[in-house]
Parts: sequence; structure tokens; C-alpha cells
Amino acid sequence: MWYIETMKVVEVIKYPNPLLTRPSLPVREIDPSINELIDTMIETMYASKGIGLAAPQIGRLLRVIVLDVPEDEEGEQGKNLMALINPEVVEGRGKVEIEEGCLSVPEVKVKVPRYEEVVVKGLDREGREIFVEGGGLLAVALQHEIDHLNGRLIVDYLSRIKKDIVRRKLKKLYGG
Ligand code: NI
Repeated sequence: MWYIETMKVVEVIKYPNPLLTRPSLPVREIDPSINELIDTMIETMYASKGIGLAAPQIGRLLRVIVLDVPEDEEGEQGKNLMALINPEVVEGRGKVEIEEGCLSVPEVKVKVPRYEEVVVKGLDREGREIFVEGGGLLAVALQHEIDHLNGRLIVDYLSRIKKDIVRRKLKKLYGG
């Protein structure tokens, strides 16, 4: 069927693949390849049942993230979908710590200290500057995805011993 060709789901890279620990580069020009990358990221996020994905997780070291954080359990897919290019936290308020998972670190949950509310600045896919303001799960997800762009993963918030256990376990499962 024709629409299959437009769907591009790729593999999500798993820790300890070294690509996940490198900082990503800012996007200088939003050309068709960036829009293609965003489409692939969205399809891959949904196929993996994630609420967010960063470009390095599919092996592209560019500062691009996608998110679709539901408001509740029955949250409709696509309702809160957003793509952000060169996102950065420009304001943070409060503190929160919840157990976070990551498509690149399967079966692991880590409590990560985050801002409770954030304002994130970035570009949309048309190159317009946008500001996203959010609290709760959206704020946490934004900070989590931006961490990926800086080569930072949830395991980096664990003690060295615990991180090593996760690293060895996942290396056995996924190689890398
Ligand atoms: Ni993640």
C-alpha cells in the first residue's frame, strides 16, 4: 500500500552505545532533510510507545526533539505532538523528582531531579521561534529530551556502581 512508503520507523539506539553520550550539534538550516528526520522521529516514537524522542536516539547527533505528552491516561495520540529544533531551557521553577524511563535504557527507572515547571525556547519546523511553557510530565519530558542532546542519560543520575550494573546488563542484551 502506498502509505507504507511514507512511514519510516527506525531502530532506537540503546545504552551503552557511545552515540548516546555525545553532545548533538545545533541545526543551522531547516532543510527538507530536517523535516524528514522529524517525521522519522515521530513515527519511531509512536511505534515504540514513547512520549518523547531525541535525534541522537536514532543515531543523528542534531539538536531536534519530538514529544507527545498525554494529559491523562486516555490522552489522545497526536493531540500534544510537538517538534522542537535547538531547544533550550530558558526558565525553570520548583523542584520535582519522578521515576523516569527511557527508550534507550529499557527496563530501567531512575529518579531524576528536575524543575517542576519550565519555559523552553526553540524553533518549530518552519523555523519560527517558539516558547513552550509546561509543568508536570511535560516539564520533565522536555528536560529529559534536552538532556539527550547534551549526551546525558537517566543512568548518569545513578551511582557509579548502579550505572555499571545497568551498563553490563544492557550490553549483554543489545551489544554496543
Ligand atoms: Ni530518553
